[in-house]
Amino acid sequence: MQNQNSNIKAAITGVGMYAPEKIMDNKYFESIIDTNDEWIKTRTGISERRLMENGATSDMAAEAAKDLFKTTGVKPEEIDVIIIATVTPDMFFPATACLVQENIGAVNAWGYDLSAACSGFLFALQSGASLIESGNAKKVLVIGSDKMSSITDYTDRNTCILFGDAASAVLLEPSEDDSIGIHDSILRVDGSGQDSLYMKAGGSLNPATEETVKNKLHYIYQDGKAVFKVAVKGMADVSVEMMEKHNLSSDEIAYLVPHQANLRIIDATAKRMGIDPEQVMINIDRYGNTTAATIPLCLTEYYRDGKVKKGDNLILAAFGAGFTWGSMYLTWGMDKWEK
Ligand code: UT7
Repeated sequence: MQNQNSNIKAAITGVGMYAPEKIMDNKYFESIIDTNDEWIKTRTGISERRLMENGATSDMAAEAAKDLFKTTGVKPEEIDVIIIATVTPDMFFPATACLVQENIGAVNAWGYDLSAACSGFLFALQSGASLIESGNAKKVLVIGSDKMSSITDYTDRNTCILFGDAASAVLLEPSEDDSIGIHDSILRVDGSGQDSLYMKAGGSLNPATEETVKNKLHYIYQDGKAVFKVAVKGMADVSVEMMEKHNLSSDEIAYLVPHQANLRIIDATAKRMGIDPEQVMINIDRYGNTTAATIPLCLTEYYRDGKVKKGDNLILAAFGAGFTWGSMYLTWGMDKWEK
């Protein structure tokens, strides 16, 4: 979605993150299900993930926002809009954005939650960028936060080894330089994928009953093989389309920033784009799949490690339940990280 009608461009001007302290490593899973470290590492690339023991999605999101405020000097009362991408809201309503607003003291903000599963951060970033481009907002907090442990069945070895809890936030502001910021996004949904990755009960279709609880219908269900195939194709298709649309060669891209669901999906996407492994942001080994938080977590860590610099072109790419998927092309505008 290229900004056609406005000369205002939205840029990321701050980052923040929160990862709970408690670590669940592959050894822990060996002790609770029939699995082993080698299978998990070679099939997924994951070594450990985090567990939020006390607190909910809004608490993690608020911590990520506070980290961002601390490191940018921006004050909560300056925030115009809070968008929370999540599939694990604290409650159906009120929106997690309301709980975060109160927790961080963003007294002048409005906000909402956005549900697009693992593509949630990209969809939220585009929504936030549109608010900036239209002139309707000057400071938008976009947060990906998911407490996946709250919907994970720890007796299902097909899914429980994959997911972790975390949150990460970015601040969007009007860019002062139009070579910097979000240039374009290609976003897609295809509801024919609804039965491949979903939570079967708890919504208006199958409200919670004793039966739904007994039958474990309030957990993630995934047909892993089916999702794997479409994820590789979906993420690579839109990322290659983005490169072609903007005449970008692989050496003009500093990093591919992929959703962290499976290292094999990431490798296949990078290969189709002609991107070298060292040009791919990876932290799936330490966090697993944190759904809406994966992409901003990568951005925050790589920026703070001094690996991404002002002027770097990035392609963000995601695929998730729905199906939802997309890619985004932006030029990084922040220069120095000092703690
Ligand atoms: O983020 C949202 C989008 N989600 C994704 O992108 C996830 C996409 N899917 C995947 O990443 C992969 O399909 C998985 C990692 C979930 C599974 O990997 P796979 O290579 O597709 O394995 P599989 O499901 O085909 O299972 C292969 C074998 C099976 O045994 P049999 O039937 O061949 O005897 C499974 O029962 O591996 C077995 N298996 C396990 N073995 C040890 C499944 N889970 C485990 C496990 N430990 N945890």
